[in-house]
Amino acid sequence: MSSQEKINRVNELRELINQNNYHYYVQDEPVIPDAEYDRLMQELIAIEDEFPELITDSSPTQRVGAVPLDSFPEIKHEVPMLSLGNAFDEDEMTAFDKRIREKLEMDSVEYVAETKLDGLAISILYEDGQFIRAATRGDGTTGEDVTLNVKTIKSIPLNLIDVGLLDEKYPERVEIRGEVFMTHDGFNKLNDKQKEKDEKLFVNPRNAAAGSLRQLDSRITAERHLSFFAYGVGIVEGGTIPETHAGLLSRLKTWGVPVSPETMVMRKLAACFEFYKNIASRRASLGYDIDGVVFKVNRLDQQDIMGYVSRAPRWAVAYKFAPEEELTEILDIEVQVGRTGALTPVARLKPVFVGGVTVTNATLHNEDELKRKDVRIGDTVIVRRAGDVIPEVLKVVMERRPAKTVEFKMPSSCPICSSDVEREEGEAVIRCSGGLYCSAQQIQAIIHFASRRAMNIDGLGDKLIEQLVEKKLINNVSDLYKLTQEQLSELERMAEKSAMNIIAALNNNKETSLDRFLYALGIREVGDATARSLANHFGNLVAIQSATLESLEEVADVGPIVAKHIVTFFSQNHNQEVINALLTAGVHWPDVEIKTEQPLQGKTFVITGTLDSMKREEAKQHLLELGAKVSGSVSKKTDYVIAGSDPGSKAEKAHKLEVEILDEAGFLSLLGNQ
Ligand code: IVH
Repeated sequence: MSSQEKINRVNELRELINQNNYHYYVQDEPVIPDAEYDRLMQELIAIEDEFPELITDSSPTQRVGAVPLDSFPEIKHEVPMLSLGNAFDEDEMTAFDKRIREKLEMDSVEYVAETKLDGLAISILYEDGQFIRAATRGDGTTGEDVTLNVKTIKSIPLNLIDVGLLDEKYPERVEIRGEVFMTHDGFNKLNDKQKEKDEKLFVNPRNAAAGSLRQLDSRITAERHLSFFAYGVGIVEGGTIPETHAGLLSRLKTWGVPVSPETMVMRKLAACFEFYKNIASRRASLGYDIDGVVFKVNRLDQQDIMGYVSRAPRWAVAYKFAPEEELTEILDIEVQVGRTGALTPVARLKPVFVGGVTVTNATLHNEDELKRKDVRIGDTVIVRRAGDVIPEVLKVVMERRPAKTVEFKMPSSCPICSSDVEREEGEAVIRCSGGLYCSAQQIQAIIHFASRRAMNIDGLGDKLIEQLVEKKLINNVSDLYKLTQEQLSELERMAEKSAMNIIAALNNNKETSLDRFLYALGIREVGDATARSLANHFGNLVAIQSATLESLEEVADVGPIVAKHIVTFFSQNHNQEVINALLTAGVHWPDVEIKTEQPLQGKTFVITGTLDSMKREEAKQHLLELGAKVSGSVSKKTDYVIAGSDPGSKAEKAHKLEVEILDEAGFLSLLGNQ
C-alpha cells in the first residue's frame, strides 16, 4: 500500500468503526458480528502502530485509556448542572402539574417522560462536532475533568454525525449532558472479575459506575462496561437546537448520541401515571437500575417561563420509585437448615419497606459471604430487594456499629439435630451431616416430595408436614402412605373433610412417572430437567440405581458432580429402604420408552421472550434431551425460534431471515409429539 492508500484505509476503517458503534450503541441493532468489528479495530491498530503519525485524538483506537493521572483537574461549568425536585406520590405530581398550568396559564401542558437513570451525571463538550472534554457534575458549579475516562465509553461518539441538513447540524459548541451508568450485565461481569482477582466487590451498579468513572488510570475505566444515555444540553453556541425537549432528544440521536428508548410525550396527568406504572412494572427487566421517572415540560420556551428555584428547575420533577435499597438493623442472625442439610445464615431485620414490600428477613448466603461482609447482631446494614429477587444484606454501615459487637460464627453442630457439620473442599456451604436423621432435612425432604412438580399431593402443606414430623407420625416420605384419616383429623386445625381429601390425594397420585418420582426423591442437584433426562436415557429405575459414574455422565446434562450425588444417594441403605417402602405402598409408573433415535437431532433452536409454562432453562433442557442444539443468537442456520411473550429483537431477526417461529403452544405441541 502506498502512504496515500494507507491514509485512505485508515479513514475508511475509522468511519466503519464509528458507524458500527452507532448501530450497536445508539440504534441497539448491531449490523456486523462482534468478531468482524474486532477485525476492523485490529487492522486500524496495526496501521497506526506502523505509522504513528496517522494517530489522531479522535481515532477510535484512542478509547483504550491513557497513562494514569495524579488527580483530576477541576472544570468550571459555564452553565450550572442542576438537580431535580422530587415527587413521591400522585398528590405531589398533581401539585407539580397545577403549578405549571397556573404559571403558564394553560389548561394542559405537554410533558416528556424519561426514566431516571441511577448513575452519575456528566457533561461532554463538543466543538465543531469533536469530543473536547468531559466533566462530572461535582457540586453543580465545578466538576472534575474525566475526559480520558469518558473517552473510553464506546457508546459516546468522539465525532458527532453531520447528516448534511443545515437545520439539523450540531452547534459549533455544544455541551451534551446525560447519565453514565452500568448495566446489570456489566456489573455482574465486573464483580465476577473482582472475585477472581480476590479484590473488593462493588455493592451496586451505581457505585461500580462511580468507581469506574473516577479512576485516575483510564485503562481501568476502559475495561469496565460503562453505558451512557443523554438527556439534555448545557452550552449551545453557534447553532440552534429544536424547540421542544422531545425534538432535542431525537436530534441528539441523529448526531449519534445514545438516548434512552423509554421516553414518551404526554399531555394528561393520567397518562403520566400510566407511564410511571408501566415503567415500574418493567423496572426489574430493563437491565439497568432506575430510581424513578423524570417529567419535563416539553416546550423549551415554556421551560424558560417556568425558570428555576434554588438548584432545581421548576419545569421538571423526578417522580421516585420505592427505593430498592434501605437502611435497617440486624436484630438477630439465625441459621436455617435446608433439604440438603445446607446451613444458611439468615438475618432477622427490623422491618423495613424496600422494593415495594416490608422485609423482615434477608439471606446472608453462606459462611464466606458472612465473613466478607462481617455482619453482626446490632449492625446497621444496607438491604437490597430488586424485583422478585430474595432480599439480601449488601453491606454494613461500619460508622454505625455499636460498641461491643461480636463476630458471628457459624455453628460447629447442626442447630436442629446437633449432628456435626462439615464443609467440603471447594464448597462454600456448610452442611449438617445428620442426613434424614435431622428433622429439618426430613421436613424439607417431605415438603419437596409432596410439591407440585414432584408427587403433587394437594393439601399437604408445609405447616402440616412440620406437625406430622414433630408429632413423630412420619419420619420419611414413605410413611406418608401409612397415615390414616383418623391420625390426620386429630391434628390441630384439621377438618374431617380435609383429612379425607389428603388421604385421597395420596392414593390418587400413586400413579406417577419415572421422572417425577426421581425428582421427588430429592437427590442433590437433580432438578426436574435432569430427572427427565435420566428417565429417558435409562428407561427404568433399576438401571439408574445400578448405573456407574461413567454411564451417568453419558446423560445430556449430567456432569461428574451430579453423577457422584446420584451414585452416593443410591448407595445409602436408608434411601434404598425408603424407595422399597414407596414401591410396596403402591407408588408406580409406566415404563419409559428409551429413545435411541433423537427426534430433533441436527436441528438448531433459539429461545426468546418469556414462557408461561416453564423457565427458558427448562425449555432448553427439553430440547437438548430430544437431540436439538440450542443457540443464543439467530442466524441463517437456525431452524426454529421459540418466541414467548415480549420476544424482542431475536424474533424480528428470525422474521427477517425467514426462520420458522413457534409460539409457546406450538413449542409445547412439538415437545408433546416427540
Ligand atoms: S435532568 C435540569 N433527566 O438525576 C435537569 N436527570 O436528581 C437536570 N438523572 O443530576 C437533570 N436521569 O444525574 C435528568 N432523565 C434524566 C435523568 C436525570 C437521571 C439524574 C442526574 C441528575 C439527578 C438529579
